[in-house]
Amino acid sequence: MTAVAAKLTIKDVTVTFQRRRGGSVVAVDSLDLMVRDKEFVCIVGPSGCGKSTLLRIIAGLTRPTTGEVVLDGIQVSGPGADRGMVFQSYTLFPWLTVEGNVEFGPRLSGQPPELCTRIAKRYIDLVGLSGFEHSYPKELSGGMMQRAAIARALANDPEILLMDEPFGALDAQTRTLMQELLLSVWEQTHKTVLFVTHDIEEAVLLADRVYVMTARPGRIKREIKVSLPRPRTVGVLDSEEFLRFRREVQQSIREESLKVLSAKEEGG
Ligand SMILES: Nc1ncnc2c1ncn2[C@@H]1O[C@H](COP(=O)(O)OP(=O)(O)O)[C@@H](O)[C@H]1O
Ligand SMILES: [Mg+2]
Repeated sequence: MTAVAAKLTIKDVTVTFQRRRGGSVVAVDSLDLMVRDKEFVCIVGPSGCGKSTLLRIIAGLTRPTTGEVVLDGIQVSGPGADRGMVFQSYTLFPWLTVEGNVEFGPRLSGQPPELCTRIAKRYIDLVGLSGFEHSYPKELSGGMMQRAAIARALANDPEILLMDEPFGALDAQTRTLMQELLLSVWEQTHKTVLFVTHDIEEAVLLADRVYVMTARPGRIKREIKVSLPRPRTVGVLDSEEFLRFRREVQQSIREESLKVLSAKEEGG
């Protein structure tokens, strides 16, 4: 182990769901992982391997059956403002404007209104939504909604940003723009990020380290350090180095996807 202190530690976490008609499903099995301060870590794995379950556990929305989650030395026991969440489906309040959504957290924590507005402005600028402060979510495109969701999560100044396939519902062009935006936001804030995706290219582009999960029950299969230089732009996608990392992750995940496929075929 290195001497660098962990920001987030998942220790031997197992999650078993009870099926309504009896029996149970092990979604996550004895999983260990670690995220360092200011690190950008991606988790990739085949569909259904327990990625969202893992993120919900860290968010304190689901309880692990066994094991523990420790953030900044304190065991997570429920949801909290120290963890900012961005999901694939838009999580903005439809009855609030962009500004209202972004300043919601700071207001809830009892900050003075002028400060809340200033914080909101800062993050709205950071995600490139200046001019849309007074727009409602339904007036925004999918990409703009996700920008607002990122600004909203950052406005609470969380210790870690938890992102669950946040660009999964966007078209390819918008997705690339959002990846660039997130890289630039990360350069400016150096927030610790744990980002879940099934998109290998996205994981390699964004991450300092990639954890590859096994097919269900999800465990960590491999950890790959992505030593591409920063700051990064999408220009790196064509580099020989990038392709090498992508191949490495791809090979690892392919074996797991094949397992899922053959399990489905066996099941009919
Ligand atoms: N609340 C729940 N009750 C029962 N089973 C669940 C529940 N949530 C997830 N699962 C099951 O756990 C497994 C992992 O799901 P999930 O974490 O959503 O995977 P991923 O995000 O990697 O696609 C799946 O088989 C899913 O059906
Ligand atoms: Mg999921």
